[in-house]
Amino acid sequence: MLARLRRLPPLVVPGEITRLRGLLAEAAAGRRFLLQGGDCAERFQDCTPEAIEGKLRVLLQMSVALTHGGRKPVVRVGRIAGQFAKPRSKPTELVQGRELPSYRGDLINGLEPDPDSRRPDPGRMLEAYYHSAATLNHLRALTASGFADLHHPERWELPGGSGEVPAYRRTLDQVRESLDFLEALGGVQRDVLERIDFFTSHEALLLPYEEALTRWVGEDRGYCNLGAHTLWVGERTRQLDGAHLEYLRGLRNPLGVKVGPSATPDHLVALLDRLDPDREPGRITLISRFGATRIQAALPPLLAAVQATDHPVLWSCDPMHGNGVESASGYKTRDFAAILAELRLAFELHRAQGSHLGGVHIELTGEAVTECTGGTERLSEADLAKAYETGCDPRLNGTQSLEMAFLIAEMIRG
Ligand code: PEP
Ligand code: CO
Repeated sequence: MLARLRRLPPLVVPGEITRLRGLLAEAAAGRRFLLQGGDCAERFQDCTPEAIEGKLRVLLQMSVALTHGGRKPVVRVGRIAGQFAKPRSKPTELVQGRELPSYRGDLINGLEPDPDSRRPDPGRMLEAYYHSAATLNHLRALTASGFADLHHPERWELPGGSGEVPAYRRTLDQVRESLDFLEALGGVQRDVLERIDFFTSHEALLLPYEEALTRWVGEDRGYCNLGAHTLWVGERTRQLDGAHLEYLRGLRNPLGVKVGPSATPDHLVALLDRLDPDREPGRITLISRFGATRIQAALPPLLAAVQATDHPVLWSCDPMHGNGVESASGYKTRDFAAILAELRLAFELHRAQGSHLGGVHIELTGEAVTECTGGTERLSEADLAKAYETGCDPRLNGTQSLEMAFLIAEMIRG
């Protein structure tokens, strides 16, 4: 299986990785803003044109809101085309009263609640490669051929769901008017609007799979994981002496590091020395994920520790993974207000300390799911059962995502 994977063509090319590293370096310097988002766990069965277009559409809509409101160009990175492996806190889980091995993502086992499907199957690695390739192929075709062009109103319709995001319509009108004006002056070339940058990312969790997609790309670029433009290491696997850090430090890709409640200042500095010995701008994105009630105590000492080093990191905030709660009816959910509160605190804490938040990391989907409560649609716990479809964590739906983007844009402006 792995021998076969090693011979298959790469999904991305080194030049794209270098370009992303440059854009992330600009975000670290405060000149761009990183929007990273997508599913918690992609499923093979969701590799459909509708689901892929839905996610791309909502990320593009969010980036228009962020660029327009935040006055900064946005670097778009999807949790997509490879986000198939899930770290789990427990080896088993209760499904409909039955104890089963935990679902670990389609790369490893199946979500269906029976022991057969929960058994790990190495053949899934090949399946994951093909589903990543099909997804990325569709993304590339869309982003190269005008999917993002603001002159096509049908592509910019509001995301599914009943909610209105009033600021969106106004923003779109303003952006279109400005573009028409620039075009009238001869200042905008059509092809600039028709092609956009879009990058892919996933958690580097299942190392045999990641290694099989790692290729030597020459003296100047060394080893790159060509299965995604950037990878991140999760909260559960970033031990200093662990295999994941040992693998990641040998790659030239830009790397993300989830930073949660278990991170101490010393650990973080040692980890940066390990992953970024050359102090390279764009190399490391630190993604804080504490939860709205913990960030205030936890983040400032870490910011201070990083500031005392010369690592030029980009700080991003994942307001999802520290804000999980269980609803009375047993659904894993997250409340819009808690997600927003963590983001607000992150911006404030960075500012108060002379640091700077340059990105967000969000679990979302373009579809009209009901997995997170709150937002303009005022989803309640009772609504969760209507369209709860995630394979793992609850995602913001299209409307909630766009609304969040407008609120984030205000925070970027300060
Ligand atoms: C995730 O991003 O889906 C995830 C599991 O995050 P963390 O490692 O921060 O818990
Ligand atoms: Co998740």
